[in-house]
Amino acid sequence: MPASPAGRLEVSFASLKGKRQEVVGLVVGQGPEFAGLAEELDQSCDGGLSRAAKTAQFEGKAKSIVDVLAPSGLKEKRVLLIGGGEVAKSSEDDWINCGGAAMGKLLGTKSASASLVVETGAEGELADHDIAAAMALGAFLRSYRFDKYKTKKDDDGDKGSKAKELTTLVIHCAEPKKAEKAYQRLQAIGDGVVLARDLVNEPANELGPEEFAKRAQELEKIGVEVEVLDQKELKKLKMGSLLAVSQGSSRPARVVVMSWNGGKKSEAPVALIGKGVVFDTGGISIKPAAGMEAMKGDMGGAAAVVGAMCAIAGRKAKANVVGLIGCVENMPSGDATRPGDIVKSMSGQTIEVLNTDAEGRLVLADVLWYAQERFKPKMLVDCATLTGAIMIALGKNYAGLFSNDDDLADSILEASKATGEKTWRMPLDKAFHKMIDSKNADVKNLGGRWGGACTAAAFIERFVKDKDTPWAHIDLAGTAMDAERNDINPSWGSGWGVRLLDQLVADKYEG
Ligand code: BES
Ligand code: MN
Ligand code: ZN
Repeated sequence: MPASPAGRLEVSFASLKGKRQEVVGLVVGQGPEFAGLAEELDQSCDGGLSRAAKTAQFEGKAKSIVDVLAPSGLKEKRVLLIGGGEVAKSSEDDWINCGGAAMGKLLGTKSASASLVVETGAEGELADHDIAAAMALGAFLRSYRFDKYKTKKDDDGDKGSKAKELTTLVIHCAEPKKAEKAYQRLQAIGDGVVLARDLVNEPANELGPEEFAKRAQELEKIGVEVEVLDQKELKKLKMGSLLAVSQGSSRPARVVVMSWNGGKKSEAPVALIGKGVVFDTGGISIKPAAGMEAMKGDMGGAAAVVGAMCAIAGRKAKANVVGLIGCVENMPSGDATRPGDIVKSMSGQTIEVLNTDAEGRLVLADVLWYAQERFKPKMLVDCATLTGAIMIALGKNYAGLFSNDDDLADSILEASKATGEKTWRMPLDKAFHKMIDSKNADVKNLGGRWGGACTAAAFIERFVKDKDTPWAHIDLAGTAMDAERNDINPSWGSGWGVRLLDQLVADKYEG
């Protein structure tokens, strides 16, 4: 498992009779319905819990929480009633979010450990042990922090207090062994999300193309084959488009190829491709100073791909998946590409670079081409923080989805529903292609004022070798970084896309 300093919450499962920590969260279904252990505890404190619920008008609605301090007659210092919502109707993602909400409250108790009791009496698709596992993932994701560069840990500004950090969570349910088993898959996904967040949050001085490649190489520990192509090899492969982006930087480019062979030997792989611009200054077409620091996250697509490979390998997916990322830095310098330069991509197509800040498509063009030449994948998905325009169109809650294949697009939309990582389909059209025809070369990297996300997608489409290969492009500029914090994401780098890609592989290419 890749070492992650941030994913430090220790989750374990215990029986309902197991020893409870001093802080206990009780999952209570809508009604509210006190059952089993919750009912017992309520009786032990003379109805104190149900009285507290009533006083707070707690109805067990999803994610509503009542904090009962020092209930008399109980050993527990604190009992939290955690609304489980309509148990029969709740999906895995609902429970993941419920676990995140519970964890948010538990973190606030400043206790080092806590118990969570899952006894809903669920009889639907999800049994209590599945619910326990899902809540564990939500709690794990919520507990994430990126504070490795803080030499003094501050506890919510309360400098004087010696408040502890919640590091141990015990989840109690009827069949803890089954919960443990169910959690194996989810823990792999959690590790992937946390890895992606770490990569996005890491500042660019620490994470150059080479360091990024090294981080991806750590996936070898979980059985992923990893190959790193250096500058010399990229030149030999004639990746003139990708290299045009990195040539202004003193840090050379890398392309990382990750393979997970969990499927049949003869089966063509699924290819996941990521934009890994470790920092995007805009190059000679330099960006304004204000907010430029956010461009340390311009490798969010590559991070999603690395995170997804971590999840897929971690849960030993029965599918062949290759992940390819182009890692470069976009800098202005005496060696940098100029507006007006014409470069030759690996595909042979020439590109007029009218704006050096439209660099992501230049990186993807070569990596996408290489992926097809080398692996002949049965389908391609690329992920990129490609345009500001997609944020203008869709805001920060939806990523843009472009695809030449309705079936693939529908599968991604389905995966979005299951994971809550929302995508919205956007158009590909001849009209956008017309906007990127160049007078001086085969194509230009700028489409004009309107439809910026769509002309960017059209540009990438030109590098789909065989028009019959299902391909999708996901523009996650709005969702990968500084998206709205929520019950399962407290982080600037969200790790968005890991769950979506993993779900897509699970739904469409396994079993
Ligand atoms: N990395 C940016 C897109 C971006 C902007 C991502 C803000 C996340 C937040 C990309 O390389 C870029 O600069 N795109 C330009 C394209 C334009 C020059 C055609 C843009 O969107 O302004
Ligand atoms: Mn740019
Ligand atoms: Zn960029």
